[in-house]
Amino acid sequence: MNAVSDNTPAAATVTWISGPVLRARTRGAFQVNEAVWVGPQRLLGEVIRIHGDEAVIQVYEDTTGLRPGTPLGGTGTPLSVRLGPGLLGNIFDGLLRPLAAQGNYVHPGASQTRDMGRFPFTPVVQPGDRLKAGAIVGVVKRRDARPQRCLLPPDCGGEVISIAAAGEYSNHETICTLRDAAGETRDIAMSHRWPVRQPRPVTARMPVEGPLFTGQRVLDSIFPLACGGRAGMPGGFGTGKTILQETLAKWCDADVIIYVGCGERGNEMAGVLKEFPELDDPRTGRRLMERTVIIANTSNMPVSARESSIYTGVTVGEYFRDQGMRVALLADSTSRWAEALREISGRLGELPGEGGYPAYLSSRLADFYERAAHVRALNGQIGSLSIIGAVSPPSADFSEPVTTHTKRYVRSFWALDAGRAQARFYPAIHPLQSYSQDIEVLSQFWSQHGNPEWPQQRRRFLGLLEEQARLDRMARIIGKDALPPRQQQVLLCAELINEAFLRQSAFSDVDRFCSVARQIAMMKLINYFIDKSEQAVADGIRVEDISAMDAMRRLRRMGEDIGNDDLDRFEELRQALDSALAQLTPGATADAG
Ligand SMILES: Nc1ncnc2c1ncn2[C@@H]1O[C@H](COP(=O)(O)OP(=O)(O)OP(=O)(O)O)[C@@H](O)[C@H]1O
Ligand SMILES: [Mg+2]
Repeated sequence: MNAVSDNTPAAATVTWISGPVLRARTRGAFQVNEAVWVGPQRLLGEVIRIHGDEAVIQVYEDTTGLRPGTPLGGTGTPLSVRLGPGLLGNIFDGLLRPLAAQGNYVHPGASQTRDMGRFPFTPVVQPGDRLKAGAIVGVVKRRDARPQRCLLPPDCGGEVISIAAAGEYSNHETICTLRDAAGETRDIAMSHRWPVRQPRPVTARMPVEGPLFTGQRVLDSIFPLACGGRAGMPGGFGTGKTILQETLAKWCDADVIIYVGCGERGNEMAGVLKEFPELDDPRTGRRLMERTVIIANTSNMPVSARESSIYTGVTVGEYFRDQGMRVALLADSTSRWAEALREISGRLGELPGEGGYPAYLSSRLADFYERAAHVRALNGQIGSLSIIGAVSPPSADFSEPVTTHTKRYVRSFWALDAGRAQARFYPAIHPLQSYSQDIEVLSQFWSQHGNPEWPQQRRRFLGLLEEQARLDRMARIIGKDALPPRQQQVLLCAELINEAFLRQSAFSDVDRFCSVARQIAMMKLINYFIDKSEQAVADGIRVEDISAMDAMRRLRRMGEDIGNDDLDRFEELRQALDSALAQLTPGATADAG
């Protein structure tokens, strides 16, 4: 059922209009968060506040032409979206109305995703079975999307009276009839509605088990994200947020990708909408869209639709999570969402807080990020929803409210640095401003893959990078050559960590994805180099001689040169390094190697 097409009688009249915000005099009961329809076009809105007999409503569509006196009515249900097998592979607006069909524009009052075609359903239950709420009743295998499961709604269980035979059905056709605990008969379709602001219930939230593996070294090996975790990615203009989100969409080991785009400029989102459907899925060789749902808002859509879009996104994510899938939600950018919140708050005449944002910015961000989880679903499946939110702080100032509040709720913080981006050092994640709070649990993952030393290696890398920052400051004053050899060796190692390990081109065929084994091999080899060069310097070898060795050049380039299937070549390189170092003699000039 759709709020917009609902035929409930008018129970209020509009008295005041400011952009997407209305006030209305009510003649009946309304609830906060209840979906409403407005006017003869039946625009979709939501009650956000009630004072006595006045309701404040945000409208998700263009309110041009609305006048005081326009009737409106409630629907009795909170703002909800229809979740079903037709979502994968499609592009929607912030209220889950299909976009592709109409170009980048949705018509006022356009209905939600009621009919999206027919899908091949195979039942997995029989009449007489007793099903718990949220149980799996069948599977859907579309030719153009990854396999999915059909779930009972999270608030509905009972005894199966009838179940459809295998065949093609539409989204909203009854495929199962249940008798619930109260003895009522319930008709169940492949899709069901769920309120966007209400987290879908689960049996249990489970502790973190492993990472969301991304194939990006600076993330997996240095600032990993737990599967079911939450990450914030702040970065100024042009620092690579969108490219990194796209890289994650392609390479992270999630089953389903939810991409929520809150565009800064209309044409930016249009670019994503055009490019995304053309991307190949490197894992399957098919289209990435087959396991992707895009929720798009451009800046020319009403701000309130942008406000709801991230909740719509998480709700869709939870729906796939409940099918036992690993889901990654990428939101680009949450700053645009926060601006929508600010604009609506301004129109409501609320007292502005920091940066003009409403006082509830922080709790809204918490509501969003806290829905990331690794769970046992109601039907017993284990699934996860990981959330990665980009933040675009104005003037790259990370002390602004959206960034600081995001920091409170994420466990992985990936700070994109303008200096690195300007130097075309990508991904521009700053190793000293970023962090991950799940190192301890995630070290098990590396142990299981044969690298129990990972936490120490990682700490050593970060220690060297920190020392590099300190020494660079000193070198600016006294000159690099005036630094003692041991400190020059630290700079050499830090440079190698940056160049060979942290730097990784999203556009290189060899290096765009770095396997677990290759990350380990590279990390071990760099650690080996750190040990050996330390020893060499202690033995009186000059740092510039080490730096000038041909083996050193090969080390710096190893990410680009040695692919995931060529791991033996790391051992060859280690041997080359050994013999080159052995040829250096204390105090000799730089022509060895
Ligand atoms: N990983 C990468 N590898 C190579 N080049 C990159 C990488 N990331 C970003 N770039 C370069 O930087 C440019 C800007 O990146 P991107 O559009 O992702 O930035 P952004 O932070 O999303 O910018 P905006 O603030 O405008 O949204 C890209 O067009 C590309 O040339
Ligand atoms: Mg961008």
